[in-house]
Amino acid sequence: MDIRVLRPSDIPLIQHANIENLPENYFLKYYLYHALSWPQLSYVAVDVSRPAKSAYDYPKIVGYVLAKMEEEPTDGVQHGHITSLSVMRTHRRLGIAEKLMRQSQALLISLGRDETEQAMVETFGAHYVSLHVRVSNAAAIHLYRDTLGFKTEKTEAKYYADGEDAYCMKLDLAPIR
Ligand code: ACO
Repeated sequence: MDIRVLRPSDIPLIQHANIENLPENYFLKYYLYHALSWPQLSYVAVDVSRPAKSAYDYPKIVGYVLAKMEEEPTDGVQHGHITSLSVMRTHRRLGIAEKLMRQSQALLISLGRDETEQAMVETFGAHYVSLHVRVSNAAAIHLYRDTLGFKTEKTEAKYYADGEDAYCMKLDLAPIR
């Protein structure tokens, strides 16, 4: 499994994965906006066990994290935001989502920190990372709260189009600033 930065050419495959895995979907231009505005923050998981059949073959993308800086933070504090994360059903429970969120590449291994979060701190001056998650989404809540250490800030009633509430979660980046 190769975890690498999202490239604009990956976007149709990311959109496909998003539609397969989540009811919250976006126009192609929104993915492109993320890739062009904050190219250090979004990552894909590529299944490299499947060899390319030709130079025109697409990579097999099995997961992605789409992240951005909040452009107009309501609290006035610079912070990152996880727009969307998903892993294809065939590749779940293998640690891919954790790896996507916790990019521990050579420079950062000694710090034990997530590269996405590190880029948010060093490049963009982020103080924390935020995200929304459905209150019924036990898998994602386990990942965010228990594995990664996010805290639930508040519940936003009827946040989703179908009326479900969201937990608004935050990960404080102060320890790595
Ligand atoms: N139930 C309970 N715990 C789970 C589950 C589950 N179904 N799936 C994973 N976990 C736990 C793992 O055991 C692991 O815990 P550990 O650190 O204690 O060992 C932790 O979560 C991380 O597991 P990963 O293998 O890294 O997670 P995975 O690659 O399977 O992806 C994800 C998790 C992204 C939630 C996946 O299930 C998915 O794509 N679901 C559908 C899309 C989705 O819900 N995305 C999140 C929406 S919120 C947002 O986008 C901001």
